[in-house]
Amino acid sequence: MRNTIGFHHVTMVSGDAPRTVRFYRDMLGLGLVKRTVNFDDPSAYHLYFGLEGGRPGTLLTFFDWTGMPKGHPGIGGVHHVAMGVADETALLKWKRRLNDGGIPTSGPIDRGYFKSLYFNDPDGQILELATAGPGYAIDEPADALGQTETRPEPNQLQRSPKARAYALSIHPEPVPEVTQDMAITGIHHISAITSDVARANEFYQSALGLRLIKKSINQDDPSMPHHFWARYANGKVEPHSSWTMFGFPPEWHHAEGGAGQTHHVAFRAKNAEEQLAWREALLSSGVQVSPVMERTYFKSIYFHDLDGLLLEIATDGPGFSVDEDPALLGERLALPAWLEAGRAGIEKSLVALP
Ligand SMILES: [Fe+2]
Ligand SMILES: [Fe+2]
Repeated sequence: MRNTIGFHHVTMVSGDAPRTVRFYRDMLGLGLVKRTVNFDDPSAYHLYFGLEGGRPGTLLTFFDWTGMPKGHPGIGGVHHVAMGVADETALLKWKRRLNDGGIPTSGPIDRGYFKSLYFNDPDGQILELATAGPGYAIDEPADALGQTETRPEPNQLQRSPKARAYALSIHPEPVPEVTQDMAITGIHHISAITSDVARANEFYQSALGLRLIKKSINQDDPSMPHHFWARYANGKVEPHSSWTMFGFPPEWHHAEGGAGQTHHVAFRAKNAEEQLAWREALLSSGVQVSPVMERTYFKSIYFHDLDGLLLEIATDGPGFSVDEDPALLGERLALPAWLEAGRAGIEKSLVALP
């Protein structure tokens, strides 16, 4: 079995590239580490935001199709993408900054394993900010996560007076700048929707080597299972690796792609050799996998999970400085060699970014 180290990137769909840049770079303080085009559709931007020059596990990327109609979440789709912050102080500062910027938030909410704040990006994508701690070992031993069915404390459930009072907390002063103590630290977890958590459990363990670390329920709808997987060894859950799924009733509607939805989720392979071996293993277990695709900054293979969600395994290298000075990442339109001849036409067809 091959074990992914965790997330490489998550790719979402947006419908207004300048607005996406203003939100993720200027409001959330992420670096625009690459401005390029969708290699499968060069008339559309592919924008990469991340930390430290685009470190895997911190990357949020966008296929931007101007005026793209909105999709909606459902079975086979991602419900929300959570980014990490240090602690509650950071969370409350974010709430103040977002609210002052006209972006409504929900929370903070004490999820037990972490505290969370929810909001939407300008296309409607559900985002969460989640604190680093206290972590998954609050209700099970750290070296035996996922062994028992865990239930949240009754006062964690959203209708409890304690939860309602806590949700009113906010930082008392305006937060015009993203200060270091509130900086986003990368992908904290990604939560998707399945019609069958038991089947998903087998798939994510065998296809990606993720380990089940929590069998719980949806705190916003206790009738629904909520399971968590991660890269987990020796009692330690690796950062940027928590994959969670809500088990929706099978008769629920299927996800519909579009603006405000996640297009696919990419997990990490160390290198091309490991990726090739992974591809063979997936094929031999009956999973349909794409050929290896050259994405300039990494190599990719694609396949679907059993609910139809598009997954990718991407190599760590060569990374984003392969075609740009590391100090100038994302400042100009980067194109792969085969599109350079058409640069003038491509630049003309793209809207200017702030
Ligand atoms: Fe979440
Ligand atoms: Fe991707």
